[in-house]
Amino acid sequence: MKVKSINIAYQSYENKMELESIDQELISRAEEVLKNAYAVYSQFQVGAALLLDSGEIITGNNQENIAYPSSLCAERVALYYCKAHAPNAIVKKIAIMAKSKKGELLEVISPCGACRQVMSEYERIQSEPMKVILKGEGETIMVFDAVADLLPLSFNTKVLGE
Ligand code: THU
Repeated sequence: MKVKSINIAYQSYENKMELESIDQELISRAEEVLKNAYAVYSQFQVGAALLLDSGEIITGNNQENIAYPSSLCAERVALYYCKAHAPNAIVKKIAIMAKSKKGELLEVISPCGACRQVMSEYERIQSEPMKVILKGEGETIMVFDAVADLLPLSFNTKVLGE
């Protein structure tokens, strides 16, 4: 038996101003759109902003429902909208920002497993990394160069021989 480990590299910033201006813009757009989240049950508002290869920015927020499993996370609202309207677009970056009405959320929010899976497949089919930028209400920002870094050992189309 061998014990092996997987190392996840990311960049950590303590000041938004250290980021490229487009990354700052994406965070601002995610912060802006989270205000429109329909998060009446969790009081947890999430915004996602995608940067496409065309330069266009597409945003989305979480949408909840009294039938809880019918709810959808901000990341998938933005990505599915993007893929519905610009199926061939390359998603260069995704910024994700959250706020909780129940108290200040100092830590970054980390995308759920289902969103990572969806992001991972879109990254795989576009054959280009999708950078992931995470921010909470505190100063800390985490940046991952690719979704693959956030979801190692992913289940992907390779196993189906595709
Ligand atoms: N949520 C997101 O929108 N994105 C995430 O990455 C994690 C969770 C939403 C789902 C639900 O509406 C609320 O946050 C609380 O889980």
